[in-house]
Amino acid sequence: MIFKVLTLFPEVILSATNYSILKRAQQKGLIKIEAINIREFTLDKHKRADDYPYGGGYGMVMTAQPIIDAYESIKPGRTHRVIYLTPQGKRYNQQYAEQLSKEEEIVIICGHYEGIDQRVIDMIVTDEVSIGDYVLSGGEYAALVLIDSISRLVKGVIEEKSTQEESFSTGLLEYPQYTRPFEFRGKKVPEILLCGDHEKIRKWRRYQSLLKTIKNRPDLLENFELTDEDREFLIKYCEIQKFML
Ligand code: ADE
Repeated sequence: MIFKVLTLFPEVILSATNYSILKRAQQKGLIKIEAINIREFTLDKHKRADDYPYGGGYGMVMTAQPIIDAYESIKPGRTHRVIYLTPQGKRYNQQYAEQLSKEEEIVIICGHYEGIDQRVIDMIVTDEVSIGDYVLSGGEYAALVLIDSISRLVKGVIEEKSTQEESFSTGLLEYPQYTRPFEFRGKKVPEILLCGDHEKIRKWRRYQSLLKTIKNRPDLLENFELTDEDREFLIKYCEIQKFML
């Protein structure tokens, strides 16, 4: 997987991806991250890459010329997506990450200020993507979110089993995890995790996942197919809740 990031701040991308899993993935040649400095392509004599918006209004807009020239300089491969990160984009989620992890090459455009000239979007962008309903000061932070979430789905980057039970891949939030020591400041690990009965542990984890999802993200349950076992558990859970009221 090759990521080619068009940005005014290449160091933000290169430094933040030079740690831990992403660093190892690059060393192993599983992913490649290139950061291309848009400013180097501007034909403006003052090296400016932005200008005032037509029609007036607050802030500056990134000009089309350096972005398009930077894009043409990287000679993108035959199959590639061009993602522009913007709060006006389609909402990013795990499914979207899984879809993008199948690509060979992803070009990411990071905007700043009030965004980029619409003609760039019309000419080269395949996906406008938002990582959430809030406004960041620059697309670089969103680009890092995409790079990290996609890279860990690339074969060989992390153990495949560890992504299978994660939040969102099952449709439920992940169950709680514990490690040593058994007791920390008087708080013990749930005994069931030490019982050695894998079926009991599986059930307990499933219930914990359901509880966490009800508490933190009940919206996820709307599109989730409950098993008979889940339903039985939820009925019991509701009865207990009623009893406690
Ligand atoms: N740039 C600024 N805010 C953003 C967001 N929420 N998602 C993606 N890119 C952005």
